[in-house]
Amino acid sequence: MSDILDSIAYHYHERTKYAPETIAAKNKSLDWANQPSPFKEYKIGNNFDLRPYLANQSDNLQWIRLSKLLLCSYGLTAKLATMYGDSLYLRAAPSAGGLYPAEVYVISRNKSWLPSGLYNYQASNHSLVHFWSSEVWSELQSACFNHPALEETDIAIVTTAVFYRSAWRYEDRAYRRIFLDTGHLLGNIELAGAVNNYRPYLIGGFQDQKMNELLYLDSQQEGVICVIPLLDINKSSSANYEGKTALPSTSHVDYPVIPDGELLNYFHQATEIDKLEAEVFSPQEEENLLEDKYNFPFCSKISTKTNKQINWGKELSSLEDTILKRRSTRAYNGGSLTFDELKYLLDFTYQPQNYQQQGLDKNPDYFTLDLLETFIAVSGVTGLEEGCYYYAPKAQELRQIRFKNFRQELHFLCLGQNLGRDAGAIVFQTADLNKAVAQYGDRVYRYLHMDAGHLGQRLNLAAIRLDLGVSGIGGFFDDRVNQVLGIPTEEAVIYLTTLGRPA
Ligand SMILES: Cc1cc2nc3c(=O)[nH]c(=O)nc-3n(C[C@H](O)[C@H](O)[C@H](O)COP(=O)(O)O)c2cc1C
Repeated sequence: MSDILDSIAYHYHERTKYAPETIAAKNKSLDWANQPSPFKEYKIGNNFDLRPYLANQSDNLQWIRLSKLLLCSYGLTAKLATMYGDSLYLRAAPSAGGLYPAEVYVISRNKSWLPSGLYNYQASNHSLVHFWSSEVWSELQSACFNHPALEETDIAIVTTAVFYRSAWRYEDRAYRRIFLDTGHLLGNIELAGAVNNYRPYLIGGFQDQKMNELLYLDSQQEGVICVIPLLDINKSSSANYEGKTALPSTSHVDYPVIPDGELLNYFHQATEIDKLEAEVFSPQEEENLLEDKYNFPFCSKISTKTNKQINWGKELSSLEDTILKRRSTRAYNGGSLTFDELKYLLDFTYQPQNYQQQGLDKNPDYFTLDLLETFIAVSGVTGLEEGCYYYAPKAQELRQIRFKNFRQELHFLCLGQNLGRDAGAIVFQTADLNKAVAQYGDRVYRYLHMDAGHLGQRLNLAAIRLDLGVSGIGGFFDDRVNQVLGIPTEEAVIYLTTLGRPA
């Protein structure tokens, strides 16, 4: 056990916690002279304009589907004027601080409609730049340990992160937000994939250096985060490929003293995979996967089961509209959600099987979802006592752990952000890091944050469809959350999603 407590993932998490005593020192002024651009430029390559395919003017269905998928995943969906006279572009996926560390690439092999090679998605003008035109598919397969979905298709998305874009503001703690951001992006890819008849598979376990080389990345600046083969639902059967979404890395306990500002890069490299490692599962733990983790004696239990689902419209048209109009709410009015609304939000986020009839995947890919737990602080939900609850996704019920109106405490826990105080409910994703590292090595830190972001994106879209307000929160006083809300101390807080009535 002591080995795990010393692992780099545990060390990183401890080192990047916010605490009331140290937060002032972390609030440094931003280096505006070196503000990163959220757009990557290529000096060479053929440009494929994707805009003509958005208006359904073309009968080229393949291009229409790819164009819509990319727009709904990471395309520009709003333009804000800033006080400095320039424009800030917002995208289909939310991003901490609007810094957009993710880049999106497309890889194709021998497709008649999409010449083989490497493409970068240029969100700025909704185009693909074809910067490498040789076949790389077999290298891709090998770097992904021959994941079976790559055998079955000819097209894959790859997401990367340009670390400095987020680290510029959030320093070492940016690593958490980079993976949360990516999780939101993966949520869009999952759902926009379904709208466009693609089944995306998630590959989080790959040989990092080989993937970085394949995309010609400078791995000090940018790294591959996820590989996503897209299966064409029109062509392939709905077979579930047995490929693994998550593979373990080693667990590093032998690392030097790492100065502030270098921790993010060090940690990323420490979580890379070169060769396959064995995952550690005990039979006892596998049994536990069948049951919800926490069942407190004598606590009140309230069912969240619902027969009514959010309606995503004919052929999921309202889902596409919702993705394109989603915005993070900037202020709540303090009003309450109804209990039915909370049930719908949880049902869409945690019970995807209830959405199969509408054309969504009943079992979308996640990495290590069983290692994440959910707690909900209720400040204003009509018909539900104020307090903190554990959400048991298998039993589909809320199990109350504390009775109290936590509004003032939540304001403080969210670093004084009013969103925390005025929300009707706040969803907390947590994980037992020691257990997670024991199973998947240090790389599990990536998986946990991507899964939490992915759940967060489903919450976001459900909330927008219900005309509710929603915003992620990546900055919070880590340990205080456990103390105040009564969340067990072994649960590391990964992410918060606030929900409320928009002001
Ligand atoms: C991981 C993550 C953390 C975030 N943290 C905060 C936060 O602490 N406070 C806040 O007001 N907004 C937060 N946001 C919302 C972003 O500020 C927002 O996504 C960004 O400004 C882009 O706007 P949009 O979501 O409307 O497209 C967060 C979003 C993400 C994805």
